[in-house]
Amino acid sequence: MTDPTTNEFSEFSITQIDVDLDVQEILLAASQHDIPKLRRLVRTPSSHADAANVKDPETGYTPLHSAIAACEPETEDADETNGVNSAQANGDETDANAETLKTGAETVRFLLHEGAIWNDLDRNDETPGCLARRIGATEIYEMLVDAGVRAEMLLSRLEGYGPLSDGDDEDEEEEEEEQEEGADASGENETVPELVDATEADVATVTTTGERLANPEVSNPGYLDSSLNITRDRILDSDQNGVMMGWETSIMQKSAQKLLPRPGLKVLNVGHGMGIVDGFFQEQSPAAHHIIEAHPDVVAEMKRKGWDTKPGVVIHEGRWQDILPGLVGNGETFDAIYYDTFAESYADFRDFFSEQVIGLLEQDGKWGFFNGMGADRQISYDVYQKVAEMDLFEAGFDIEWEDIPVPKLDGEWEGVRRAYWVVDNYRLPLCRFMD
Ligand SMILES: C[S@@+](CC[C@H](N)C(=O)[O-])C[C@H]1O[C@@H](n2cnc3c(N)ncnc32)[C@H](O)[C@@H]1O
Repeated sequence: MTDPTTNEFSEFSITQIDVDLDVQEILLAASQHDIPKLRRLVRTPSSHADAANVKDPETGYTPLHSAIAACEPETEDADETNGVNSAQANGDETDANAETLKTGAETVRFLLHEGAIWNDLDRNDETPGCLARRIGATEIYEMLVDAGVRAEMLLSRLEGYGPLSDGDDEDEEEEEEEQEEGADASGENETVPELVDATEADVATVTTTGERLANPEVSNPGYLDSSLNITRDRILDSDQNGVMMGWETSIMQKSAQKLLPRPGLKVLNVGHGMGIVDGFFQEQSPAAHHIIEAHPDVVAEMKRKGWDTKPGVVIHEGRWQDILPGLVGNGETFDAIYYDTFAESYADFRDFFSEQVIGLLEQDGKWGFFNGMGADRQISYDVYQKVAEMDLFEAGFDIEWEDIPVPKLDGEWEGVRRAYWVVDNYRLPLCRFMD
């Protein structure tokens, strides 16, 4: 134990205070948009080791948060009884706000350049981008989206994805430890981070398609082994994760309409779930309607509902990874393809479109996917849209988006482990081969 009468104790206290003062000085300089001072603090060796990413212990603000929070426009009402002066005051205020936004943007650019983390969370559960969006700092928001895209693309190119940090490193470390401990000896648990397979394992938590892929605690083999709770308006896995929910019906309807605009076409759907999108495909009396479904409970339910006897329907039981090479080998092609699975990684999704769709889609065909990537936070949704766009482009596809408003989902999540949808609009993707 430290003796409070010794120098050892007082030295310890002084060190602690120094560190805190360092942090406060950096955060203050950020909030004052004082780039020269920040430059000095960030680059001085004696300064804080990772100065661009220090945190206020109370608010959880990083320098990025501080710089952005200082851009929040003044909200005090101008004196409305004094017309001319009030208009003048409003004009001055607007100029001041514009100037603050400009210096704020410069500070954010500087901090990002110095290695500030784009998606660290404050105590309010906001990333710097969430804060920028909330206060209407659009230019800064876009800078942070671009920073997110750069970070994700870089990690992807290095094939060393790390989990999309919620900023809660402790939780994530615990999760990783739990996953490692929970790994079975057969090595079937794909979430176990191994040196070679780490990419695959981690990608699942980075770039995902909604609840289907977003939950790092669920692996595809684990999910396929679990028993499902299938009801009229939802499918939950054994941990109450939402596999599919009835509120997505309008999204499925619109997707089906866009992909299959007229009768007599050939369609392939990967992931039957509640059969919603397949129901809409059937309405178009397709010439061929192939469905790939990997979960035995879903397959049993499909058969109970008579899907195996519907016109044109061919059910392929198993994972698309195992089924599709056979279809490609047989020379099967489709006018429309839809992809909506569960608990798969972004790497799986990318393999799907870069390796399989190419061999299966008619030259003038269209394909789509359930776009839930990062849908539990607007900035993540925006980042992943751009990341996917780049990968799709690289794989030779053009993509067109349509925004569809999502109804209020307040009552929807009862009994569901995690609300996987938070953003206001669903961005519906429609992909084609590039000209
Ligand atoms: C979100 S649901 C699909 C919902 C569907 N779009 C609808 O309209 O009801 C995902 C489905 O994909 C299936 N699935 C998961 N992984 C798969 C894989 N690797 N191959 C084929 N199907 C898979 C799941 O069992 C589940 O039925």
